[in-house]
Amino acid sequence: MDASSEHQEIILILDFGSQYAQLLAQRVRENQTYSEIIPCETTAEEIANRSPIGLILSGGPSSVYDPKAPKIDPNVYKLGVPILGVCYGMQLTCKEFGAMVEPAIRREYGPAELVVNASESVSPLFEGVSLKSQVWMSHGDQATRLPSDFTALASTSTCPNAAVACESARFYGIQFHPEVTHTVEGGKIIANFVSKICKSSRDWTMKNFVATAIEKIRAQVGKERVICGLSGGVDSAVAAALISRAVGSQLTCIFVDNGMMRKNEIESVAKVFRANFDVNLVIADAEDRFLTALAGVDDPQRKRKIIGKTFIDVFSEEAKKIDGARFLAQGTIYPDVIESGGKKGGQAATIKYHHNVGGLPDELEFELVEPLRELFKGDVRRVGLELGLPENLVWRHPFPGPGLAVRCLGSVTKETLDLLREADAIVVDEIVKANLYRETSQAFAVLLPTRSVGVMGDGRTYENAIAVRCVSTTDFMTADWSRLPYEVLAKISARIINEVKGVNRVVYDISSKPPATIEWE
Ligand code: XMP
Repeated sequence: MDASSEHQEIILILDFGSQYAQLLAQRVRENQTYSEIIPCETTAEEIANRSPIGLILSGGPSSVYDPKAPKIDPNVYKLGVPILGVCYGMQLTCKEFGAMVEPAIRREYGPAELVVNASESVSPLFEGVSLKSQVWMSHGDQATRLPSDFTALASTSTCPNAAVACESARFYGIQFHPEVTHTVEGGKIIANFVSKICKSSRDWTMKNFVATAIEKIRAQVGKERVICGLSGGVDSAVAAALISRAVGSQLTCIFVDNGMMRKNEIESVAKVFRANFDVNLVIADAEDRFLTALAGVDDPQRKRKIIGKTFIDVFSEEAKKIDGARFLAQGTIYPDVIESGGKKGGQAATIKYHHNVGGLPDELEFELVEPLRELFKGDVRRVGLELGLPENLVWRHPFPGPGLAVRCLGSVTKETLDLLREADAIVVDEIVKANLYRETSQAFAVLLPTRSVGVMGDGRTYENAIAVRCVSTTDFMTADWSRLPYEVLAKISARIINEVKGVNRVVYDISSKPPATIEWE
């Protein structure tokens, strides 16, 4: 189905290779307006077919004077749709309209003070925005001489045309990045573009999303049966909850217990689903099978492969038991679609919650139901809350498919996993108690493959060491270690050493990514 028929109002983001395109889309959505990222070379005709209420031209790493620099179909400017050009998107449009774009005296990267030009009647883009505020710059070129129908709206000390407008073309350009939090008034500027310039009716709410998604799922699935793998993660839980609301007991959820889950993970997810949803829930107890397959294996990649393959085997066996199931539900979300280069409405080729190991066997031949394909993680969380899922499930930190196996360094056994599970539960418990769970992106324990000397009472001990890993990140590509208060670290350490038999030392991992990774294996 074409998205234009699904979404009354859409703002399209033409991507010039910006690292921030997804952030721009999320900022627009925070204004209850649907947005999507499309390649910058999309033709004006294709864009017109989507009937957008606004376009945003993203930033990008190129210089407009580079012969290979990405361009847009010039007819886009004739569509009469409001356009916001950000950084490269501004420079490209300024050049197209006859402005001069030149290298700045030096590349500007970092914060700058934006001064809104108060001598002009305030542009709708800057309504309610402070006359002076901090913005985030990252550019080498900038627009210098503007055509006569352009107005300079704001400047910084090094960039005289930090914001411009050409009202006749319904074009607004900003040299800084409104989508990053360092631009203090960025949210207001984007809200102004969405509401005051594009005149969005702001009706893309999660409530409306849920209502539409339920209708679509019913239309797709009819009276057929659907299966869905629950992993304990947010995406699969929300997908299952949504499908359950749509088709009730036609849905069967399968939770494969691989023995590598966190403490009480399966029980708590099962409790939520049984209490709130009319859903058949199968918990496949496969702990022994996974442990046997992993016995003596210490190479991380081999562990991943074994866990992935065993998962597929167990899941397939359980799926086959569900008579006549035709659909497989997946929690694929928008960043997965973008990252796999997938087209909207296309089918993800692999099973997501074990994306590192390939798909289900061909003979299962399921049709996919992916109700979250157009949502960012933040949207998914809001949908989860709308559906009545509890906060602690909706805000759960990501957990890797191979689970505790990649946090139990070297070969794993039931005993080492149990020990790690206890230590891990203490880390999370103390982080939650200190109100730091939302501020951190992942917090967990790692069981090190080494023992060290300690002293307890009068005796010498020679026991395990636990590393605590706690990171903050927005994209998981880079991450910084969390500056946890010493008191919280002290409590975590004392509790692990006192409560987890076999541990006499706790260390805190203070490595950032890169060069370290978040997981230890
Ligand atoms: P790294 O360790 O590469 O982790 O910095 C980045 C993010 O990916 C998660 N991760 C995985 N997730 N299967 C998964 O589903 C895996 O094999 C896997 N390895 C790492 C990790 O938890 C972090 O969020």
